[in-house]
Amino acid sequence: MVNLGDVFPNFEASTTDGDIKFHDWLGDSWGILFSHPADYTPVCTTELGMAAKLAPEFKKRNVKMIALSCDSVEDHNGWIKDIKQNSGESGEWPYPIIADKNRDLAIKFGMLDPDEKTAAGLPLTARCVFIVGPDKKLKLSILYPATTGRNFDEILRVIDSLQLTATKKVATPVNWTSGGKCMVLPSVKKEDEGKYFPKGVETVSVPSGKGYLRYTPQPE
Ligand code: BEZ
Repeated sequence: MVNLGDVFPNFEASTTDGDIKFHDWLGDSWGILFSHPADYTPVCTTELGMAAKLAPEFKKRNVKMIALSCDSVEDHNGWIKDIKQNSGESGEWPYPIIADKNRDLAIKFGMLDPDEKTAAGLPLTARCVFIVGPDKKLKLSILYPATTGRNFDEILRVIDSLQLTATKKVATPVNWTSGGKCMVLPSVKKEDEGKYFPKGVETVSVPSGKGYLRYTPQPE
């Protein structure tokens, strides 16, 4: 298992874009690795189609996308034709899909869903999301069971939060979306608020009298 803050392993894999070494493939970009139970399955088909549709949004955020499914490159290439037709996406396929036929990576990264099994009784791969920073460290991981498709708008939202909070002394509150009010980090001293937050800080008065609920407009 990879924990938040760990350097994501520099694994090697065969993909629909050829063989890769993860760190070289990532370069100086952020990366998202998302896994799928198997090719030619319905929920995965909708997820990969949505990811393809949103590829320009990921690119705008300097995030390279890579999917993983436990089948061969040949199967992936056949499946991509179905995904394109179902999602209405045409043109060049925008991101590679890793072939993990022997489940080496699925096992290594703890991606298996014990409740969903193949016809042969093997656990299927769950729907993992790993977001890795340009420093190659794991910034976020989400794990969904095979039976629940992901929300790619939410994934873009968390990337916005990760990229903002990587450089500014803020955290993002419940249901935040880009441009919304942020919370001042508890580690910022009251006397330093003016230095870090020239747009101002609003401290909410609470029964405890502790001034920990501090809002500030999203820093530039
Ligand atoms: C799917 O992608 O539709 C799926 C795959 C495995 C289990 C359940 C659903």
